[in-house]
Formats: sequence, C-alpha cells, structure tokens
Amino acid sequence: MARVLSVDPLRPDVEKIRIAASAIRRGELVAFPTETVYGLGADAFNAKASRLIFEAKGRPADNPLIVHVASYDQAASLGEFPEEIAEIARRVWPGPITFVVKKRAPLPDVVTAGLPTVALRCPAHPVALKLIEESGVPIAAPSANKAGRPSPTEASHVLEDLGDKVHIILDAGRTFFGVESTIIDVTKRPPVLLRPGPFTLEELRSIFGEIKVPEFARGLGEADVALAPGMKYRHYAPETPLVVVDFDLSAAVREAHRRGLRVAVLCIMDKCAEGDAVVKLGSDLYEVARNLYDGLRRVDKLGVDLALSPAVEERGIGLAIMNRLRKAAGFKVAKTLNELLDFIG
Ligand code: TXA
Ligand code: MG
Repeated sequence: MARVLSVDPLRPDVEKIRIAASAIRRGELVAFPTETVYGLGADAFNAKASRLIFEAKGRPADNPLIVHVASYDQAASLGEFPEEIAEIARRVWPGPITFVVKKRAPLPDVVTAGLPTVALRCPAHPVALKLIEESGVPIAAPSANKAGRPSPTEASHVLEDLGDKVHIILDAGRTFFGVESTIIDVTKRPPVLLRPGPFTLEELRSIFGEIKVPEFARGLGEADVALAPGMKYRHYAPETPLVVVDFDLSAAVREAHRRGLRVAVLCIMDKCAEGDAVVKLGSDLYEVARNLYDGLRRVDKLGVDLALSPAVEERGIGLAIMNRLRKAAGFKVAKTLNELLDFIG
C-alpha cells in the first residue's frame, strides 16, 4: 500500500519532500499535487520507471506523458523553444499550461510515445516544484488516476485508483483548479489548442494572437490521432451513464423518471433540478471546475441509473468544463427531449 505523507501545500516540510525525491531517484512512483490535479510521477530520464507509470494506470503506450520541470531553463534542455515561445514560456510559467515543442535527445522514447515532440510543463505548486528540484531530474507525470477515470483532485482519489501501485503519495489537500492544464502545440503556426484548461483560450489569444481550436479540443468527437495522441481515448468517465442536457433540465429528469430510471443531477450554479440525488458542483465556474471530478466520482456511489448535467457556456474556464463533461458523457449531449430519448432508450 502507498505511504501517504501529509504536507502543507504552501510550506511543505522539506524532509518529507526529500523522502519522495529519493523514491523518484530510485525509480519508484510518487503521486504529488499540482495546481491542477494530482500527478503520477517518475524520473523522466529513467525508461523503466516511466514504463511503470503506463502499467500502473493501464495507459496505452501510444499516449505520451507530460514532463514536469522546475524552471524554464530545465525545459529548454529537454525541448526546443523558438525565441518568441521562450519569451512567453518564461512569462506564463510556473502555471497551468503545457507546451508541446520539438524534443531534444535525452528523454527516452517511452515518455513521448516515440514522438519527435514533448509536452513540457512547470507547475505552479510549491510541493510539485520542490519535489522536482529535490529529485534533480525532470518528472514525467500523467494524472494519477486509472486510465479513463476522472483525474484525482485529492489524495483519496489516488488511493482509490492506484493505492497498491504507487510508493508514496504527497497529500497536500485538494488541488486548486481541479481540471488539467491547458495544452498548446507551439510547433504549429498558428499554435493549436490540444486541451482547454485553466489557462483560458481568451488569455492564449491575447498572448499569441491567433490560436487554432480543433473540434476535439472542445470535446466534439475524437481527435485526429496524429495531432494529439491522448485525446482519442475515452476520458474522465464515471461508470454511470452520463448525459449533458442542453435544454430544460427538469423536463429531462421527468422524462427519465417516466422510464423508471433513478437519476442523479449535477448542479452547476443555478442550473439544477430535483433528481433522486443531487450533486452540487458550485456557484461559480472556478468552483465547478474544482469540484467536477470529485462530483463525477461521487455519482458512481449513489446507486443511480443515470446522471444528468447541465451544459455550461464555453467561455473562460467554461470551455475546459464543457470539454471534460462532453468526454465524461461519451459525447452524449442532448439539445432536445428526443435526443435525450435516443441516448437513454
Ligand atoms: O494538469 C496536468 O497537465 C496534469 C498534471 C499532473 O500536471 N497532467 C495531465 O497529464 O493531465 P495526462 O497524461 O493526463 O495528460 C497529458 C496529455 C495527454 O492527453 C497526452 O496525449 C498529451 O498530454 N501529450 C503528451 N505529450 C504530447 C505530445 N508530444 N503531443 C501531443 N500531445 C501530447
Ligand atoms: Mg489524464
């Protein structure tokens, strides 16, 4: 079973971080908090340790990992940053944004799934930064959940999914943003948004000017495999069927009840309805993002047949929330009662 070390999120105990850092150096797996979600970390230079990540998560080998660094300079030793991108990366890091750039030599192929590019991120979390510094190596880390499950926003989620697979969990409480980092491919002109996140599209556009947003980045259907390998897999999903309702939520619940289904309703701000169970996600979109994955995990413990969630406006962090909701719903978004009936049969 994993050893759980509680640390203060802002002033982490260096002794505990050092215990985790030596586990990383020994080639073991350490789950750690970032400002987005918990990551499942291994020494990115160690191919064998990085392979353990794929085994523990049940992650397909063609889905590359994000490599976490403690500084821009460390990133620049692993990937090629054109001058204008370097200037931007220095400005926005540490923060919830991942840059896909051309890979430099030292990283093993398992980490990047054999791609000529690498995803690099410098997380804005004192525990993550200290862990990377103390380890002395970049840390490859996907989200610390079983493949396909909602990402972990607290240590208990990591225990639930990977308790017997990870050596140490650094527990610093709930993460701040609750959805994974924004991913942007800056090897393309204009840059391409691969995954919306807390660093919003509006902010990206104000920095880069033009940004391309492929349909899959909004959660509309599957990714072009060549563009974003990981985006083709089902993600973030509860076991309970979920439908996003983009019309009268109460009418949707009534219809499901008429079919004898027990329904959990995810409430987003004032969009709510009376179901057999209600999971309140928050009263503003940042709170909703923070509670989203925990809410999706809770749905499975309610003993319902169906979960219904309202849609949110795709602005600011709302774009990331809708992307995750669409994927969690297996792309089932009902705009009318008839569409809902098609989904719930
Ligand atoms: O907030 C986050 O980014 C969290 C924390 C732990 O930092 N990490 C995270 O990792 O969400 P993960 O593995 O769950 O998502 C990484 C995504 C995958 O969808 C993967 O396909 C994509 O990044 N990715 C990694 N390398 C890539 C590359 N070279 N080109 C395109 N996409 C890449
Ligand atoms: Mg993930």
